[in-house]
Amino acid sequence: MSSSVDVSLILPTRNEAANIATAISSASEVLSAYNFEIIVVDDDSPDGTADIVRQIAGENLRVRCLHRIGRRGLASACIEGALAASGRVIAVMDADLQHDEAILPELVASVLDGRADLAIGSRYVGQGGMGDLSDDRAAKSELATSLASRFLKIDLTDPMSGFFAVSAERFRKAIPRMTGRGFKILLDFVFADQGKLRVHEVPFVFRSRQDGESKLDSANAVQFLMMLYDRALGHIIPSRFVLFAAVGALGVLVHMGVLFAVFRLMGAGFMAGQICAVLVALTYNFFLNNMLTFRDVRLKGWAMIRGWLSFALVCGLGAIANVGVAAYLFQQTGIMWSLSALAGILVGSVWNFVMSSRFTWGR
Ligand code: GDD
Ligand code: MN
Repeated sequence: MSSSVDVSLILPTRNEAANIATAISSASEVLSAYNFEIIVVDDDSPDGTADIVRQIAGENLRVRCLHRIGRRGLASACIEGALAASGRVIAVMDADLQHDEAILPELVASVLDGRADLAIGSRYVGQGGMGDLSDDRAAKSELATSLASRFLKIDLTDPMSGFFAVSAERFRKAIPRMTGRGFKILLDFVFADQGKLRVHEVPFVFRSRQDGESKLDSANAVQFLMMLYDRALGHIIPSRFVLFAAVGALGVLVHMGVLFAVFRLMGAGFMAGQICAVLVALTYNFFLNNMLTFRDVRLKGWAMIRGWLSFALVCGLGAIANVGVAAYLFQQTGIMWSLSALAGILVGSVWNFVMSSRFTWGR
């Protein structure tokens, strides 16, 4: 049965109190020819964005507020918005007024009338452009675009865009295969979609941000690379594990550094050096994993103390498993010492990853 709502516009927000009312009213204006709804997905913004939206929603039945607590991320916010949407077309637009709503009707129309499955607002086609974005930011955007293009089966001029309209049915069908991590919701969808996508691109000029600040940071860049990795090799070894292992490898360096400082430079005993090194490396790994590997479910405040304790416990048991496996292989089966040790490390790492995913970060 087809819905009577033409389009559901999703506006993801994180600290957009200064922009959200304008975003809602200007989008409503350009969409007035349609039966539309607007779903704002707010990740518990401390600036009270959700309260503003609830107030607007109280007076305007076309507007709803989806207030998420304990979860973060642009991509997953859009997915949850899409799951709550009842329109035949889903449109996604930034709420900070950087996306030019003037092209929204054209994006929506091309999907509604069946010309396209996906319509994208593009900065790299026709009259589109980066506006007065800093050169540095524009260069990074271009780099990410050319990198992403290598992993795409279809030609998109602006795969990094977060401004698009898509058939709701098509989008929801792809959700089970989407990662939902990071900033790149469009790319996430295109990677997950299994059919042949008919794409329509509409040029627009990226506006500069007037109020509030961008939430794009280097951790998002890591998540972007993880998404590309998952696309290429994720079915063999998941990117979360690769990142966890990389963090672990850095932890080894930290361990050696601390041991060297305490034992060799400061002249403390070897045992004391080892204890310091283990504690520092463990803590370093915990924080880095919390910030990167498990960013989407990261722990904050007091929960970090409990998290650290459970991580220490998990890794302690992991170390016992590591030593046990290596000793067994070396002593009982006569496998070479280095291979035995590597097997121990592998078992210990997988243990640490699986158990800390489950017990420290609740995945
Ligand atoms: N719910 C939710 N949760 N919304 C978020 C989050 C989050 O964790 N982080 C950012 N947002 C919202 C912002 O409030 C804004 O409405 C929109 O997502 C875009 O975030 P910005 O922080 O303004 O991103 P940007 O301007 O750097 O990035 C833009 O350009 C990219 C292309 O280079 C966005 O349009 C991206 O979608 C686009 O891919
Ligand atoms: Mn922005």
